[in-house]
Formats: sequence, C-alpha cells, structure tokens
Amino acid sequence: PETITIQELANRMSERGVDVIKLLMRQGQMHKITDVIDADTAELIATEMGHTVKRVAESDVEEGLFDTPDAEETLQPRPPVVTIMGHVDHGKTSLLDAIRRANVVSGEAGGITQHIGAYQVTSPLGGLVTFIDTPGHAAFTAMRARGAKVTDIVVLVVAADDGVMPQTIEAISHAKAAGVPIIVAINKIDKPDAKPERVRTELLQYEVQVESLGGDTLEVEVSAKQKLNLDKLLEAITLQAEVLDLKADPERAAEGTVIEARLDRGRGPVATVLVQRGTLSVGNIIVAGSQWGRVRALIDDQGQNCVHAGPSFPAEVLGFNGAPEAGDRVAVVESEARAREITEYRDRQKREQAAVRGSGARSSLVDMMS
Ligand code: GTP
Ligand code: MG
Repeated sequence: PETITIQELANRMSERGVDVIKLLMRQGQMHKITDVIDADTAELIATEMGHTVKRVAESDVEEGLFDTPDAEETLQPRPPVVTIMGHVDHGKTSLLDAIRRANVVSGEAGGITQHIGAYQVTSPLGGLVTFIDTPGHAAFTAMRARGAKVTDIVVLVVAADDGVMPQTIEAISHAKAAGVPIIVAINKIDKPDAKPERVRTELLQYEVQVESLGGDTLEVEVSAKQKLNLDKLLEAITLQAEVLDLKADPERAAEGTVIEARLDRGRGPVATVLVQRGTLSVGNIIVAGSQWGRVRALIDDQGQNCVHAGPSFPAEVLGFNGAPEAGDRVAVVESEARAREITEYRDRQKREQAAVRGSGARSSLVDMMS
C-alpha cells in the first residue's frame, strides 16, 4: 500500500510537522515525525488542513514511457548486443580488445576492467555487432534487477588452460535466467597446457552442450593474444543473431539503458547509453532514473560527435543535469515539464522508500489500529 512519512506530508503541504502530529493526536493517534502513515490517512489530514489533494499514481506518471507496442511494418533489423562474461583473467578484455584492434588492456590499471565500455565492430558476414564489456557480473545482475534487458547474446569466455571456474558457472546461470543464448569462446588455445576438450566436457555439467558434442550451443576456439579465430567468433555471433531475428523501430522516440555514467570535471554528467528502440537525437529531452536533461552532444565509440543514435547503437550522452545510474532506463519525453514531473515523482518515491526503511515500519497505520 502507498505510504508517506509525516515529515514528507508536512513538507508537501508546507505545514509544520508538529501541527500534523497535533491533528493526529486530537484524533487519538500518537505519532512521531518519522512515522509512516498510509495514503488514505494522509489524504484526510491534508483535507482537514485545507489542502486540495491530488493523488498521483505511478501508472499516470510513468504512463506510456516504455514498451509501447510497435507496428510490425515499422520494424527494421538491428545489430545484436553482446555481453562478454567469464571468470576473472580468462581474457574478456583481451578478447574484446583484439576484436576492436585497439589496446584497452595496457591503458587499464593493473589490466582490470575499470568500467563498462560499449563498442561496435563490423562482422565479416556483414552488419554490425555491439559489444558491452562488463567489469564482472554485478553490472549484468544490477541491470536485470532494474528490468533492463540489454543483452541479446552472451559470449562466455573460458580459458582453455583453466577450465570452468566459479564465475563461469555464475555467468551460465545469469544467461539462462535471462533467457539469453550463450556462445562459448574457448580462449588461450595458444597455451601449451590448453585443454579445450576438457572445457567442453566440463560445460556439460552445467547444461551447456556445444555443437561438437551434439548440442546447439555455438563454440569457437580462440586466442585473444594471437588473434586466432576472431572472425569465426564474429561469424558465430552473426549467425546466432540471425536466428534471434532482432528488430526494432528506428523511427519512434528513443528508449535505451544507461550502461555507465560518471561526473566528468569538464563535461559534467556523462552517460553511456545503449539505444534499444527508436533514434536518440541531439536536442531530445530525456529522463533516466531521477535525472533528466536535453541531449547536448552524442559521441560514438570512436570519439566522434554524431547527431543521431539508432537501435543497438551505444553513445556517450552529454546534457544530463546529474549522473544517472547504470541500469537506469532512458526514455525521450515531449517536454521539460514532463521530464520534471517524472523525475520529481521518482525522486519522491526514492526518498519515501528510504524513509519507510529508516523508520523500521513494516505495518501500515490501519494494521496497527486493528
Ligand atoms: P578481468 O577483467 O580482471 O576479469 O580479466 P579479463 O577476463 O578481462 O582478462 P584479461 O583480458 O585482462 O586477461 C588476463 C590475462 O590473460 C592477461 O595477462 C592476458 O594477457 C592473458 N590472456 C588473455 N587472452 C590470452 C590468450 O589468448 N592467450 C594467452 N596466452 N594469454 C591471454
Ligand atoms: Mg577485463
């Protein structure tokens, strides 16, 4: 049920908390300022104190923001979005890096991924592939917890000299829970102690059956270090994507997800956004979590400014008034007023939930009275 703290109710009416408490006391209810009351009681108090009450339901504020259906004829093919997962040091960053032919590893502190990057590359079979480099599985889980489904395909990197390890198993269960197909990349096959056959059999225990063992999971033996079979991996991704028949409407207002966000000293809040439907354009008014802004610039993975970002396209977005959080869903809205309404509502929700948790209250006033 909807609840509010007495403090927050007083704030919204611009009344003193103590006056609200007195009024409740006159009705025979004893309360502290931090107590939580239910929406009906709050409405009675507000009316009694001469305020007009407008109860705003989530369904009103968030109405039509996400997941409004597209007409079949507006759908166009879009690139697959691929997340690379696997155990620590199995070569996730090296592999992605080898694919991009840029040197990210050497620039990272201790060779450990500092944050999520998103990049696009061209497949030898044609078309683009979007990669998201996760720093671990936490980001994937956090996004799923926020209802954001960003990944179409998981590339599971397993080092051939190390085999299936705890985070390999974790990645498998994440992918299965999200219903996302896995492509196995058996990495480090250049190593003298590489045992790719062992990896294949170990995977069977976790219900991942690769093609060469009669299953339907695509597998590729690769070496990130020697740049072996990277084309084969991209081909496997493109084939898997064809099976998934990925489509989106590029014409509609954009929807997407924040992959990472930070506060940059010079540029202000910077968010890497993966566009999932529609096209994001400079000048659009966007909301993400409790932040909003007008898109001032879009920067692609090559560092180039662009005016539009279509489905499956990752771009750095400048113009947010504060840094949103990874996993926040992004939507374009028609006006600043609407953006303010949505973000203020979400902000209030967040504060109230925190207050409810803080007060330790679990039961509503009604429960306590009965
Ligand atoms: P975390 O981000 O820390 O989880 O690691 P990661 O999975 O991104 O692994 P990373 O790419 O940092 O590689 C770990 C180590 O394995 C580095 O020393 C790489 O040079 C090495 N490595 C990666 N791929 C290969 C490969 O194909 N062959 C060999 N011989 N070494 C590799
Ligand atoms: Mg890494």
